[in-house]
Amino acid sequence: MSTATGIENISTILVIGAGTMGRQIAMTAALAGYSTTIQDISEEGLAAARTELETWAASRVAKGKLGQDAATAALDALAYSTDLDSAASNADFVIEAATERLDIKTQIFEKLGVLAPAHAILATNSSTLGSSKVAEATGRPGQVCNMHFFNPALVMKCVEVVRHETTSDATVDTTMELARRLGKEPVLINREIPGFIANRLMGAIQREALFLADSGIASVQDIDTTARTALGHPMGPFALMDMVGLDVIDFIAQATYAETGAAEDAPNERVAALVAEGKLGRKSGAGFYDYK
Ligand SMILES: NC(=O)c1ccc[n+]([C@@H]2O[C@H](COP(=O)([O-])OP(=O)(O)OC[C@H]3O[C@@H](n4cnc5c(N)ncnc54)[C@H](O)[C@@H]3O)[C@@H](O)[C@H]2O)c1
Repeated sequence: MSTATGIENISTILVIGAGTMGRQIAMTAALAGYSTTIQDISEEGLAAARTELETWAASRVAKGKLGQDAATAALDALAYSTDLDSAASNADFVIEAATERLDIKTQIFEKLGVLAPAHAILATNSSTLGSSKVAEATGRPGQVCNMHFFNPALVMKCVEVVRHETTSDATVDTTMELARRLGKEPVLINREIPGFIANRLMGAIQREALFLADSGIASVQDIDTTARTALGHPMGPFALMDMVGLDVIDFIAQATYAETGAAEDAPNERVAALVAEGKLGRKSGAGFYDYK
């Protein structure tokens, strides 16, 4: 029996993990008026998150895109903590955005099952781990789902809400509505599938782009040009893979392949070879393109 809370009872949000995603998800919640705690095991991670969010808010105010009062209110609504016990004790909704490792997430969800109020919904921002993998550990699987934001979370409108077999309707409804209240456009995925919607669509395009390049049919540059000039994509698939990070692309392919075993999901050899050479895309100065 799920006792997932309704949207009207949500006032306090806990975001676990202060990394790339967690800090921006937390700021999104604070800007929407929610009292929000960011919890991380790393003091340095929390300090870096605070600095980035304060700098981001100041720059939005300077550009006239955010009022000073709204910025101050959002920054004031944020708390930073290394103490999961106290941070979870009054959370109405938890969004876990910690390191992408099942052992870490399982431990966190096990603790949340004990520490968070009985009505709290426990969501994971994981891109590759379906929430069914951690749901049982909480003792309240009906109140567990994926709530998948996109990077950068302060900007990107899409949130994929993914239910597992026993996620309750109340959990889905509240999570979808919360996403709307955070200014997002949520979409619902009715059963777990690797890659959800967006990464599957992107994966299909990347696969075809890699096939065309690998078989010498067209150059990386010309494939990217076509995606931009014929399809209206803001950037081509190779430029996008360089931006995401080729190590991340390879990791996602490996995780998907391990789960599906389908030939079309097999990691691409060219991507793996670039990763082995230390060419990870923009962040390393080279990938499919040179950035030096
Ligand atoms: N980076 C992306 O583009 C992206 C996009 C969508 C979803 N995601 C998902 O978001 C999650 C986080 O990704 P990220 O890129 O922000 O990672 P990240 O490496 O930037 O940050 C992870 C944070 O989790 C913290 N952490 C590790 N163990 C913890 C624990 N036990 N308790 C609390 N905090 C802990 C780390 O200290 C770190 O600050 C992953 O599940 C990932 O799949 C990432």
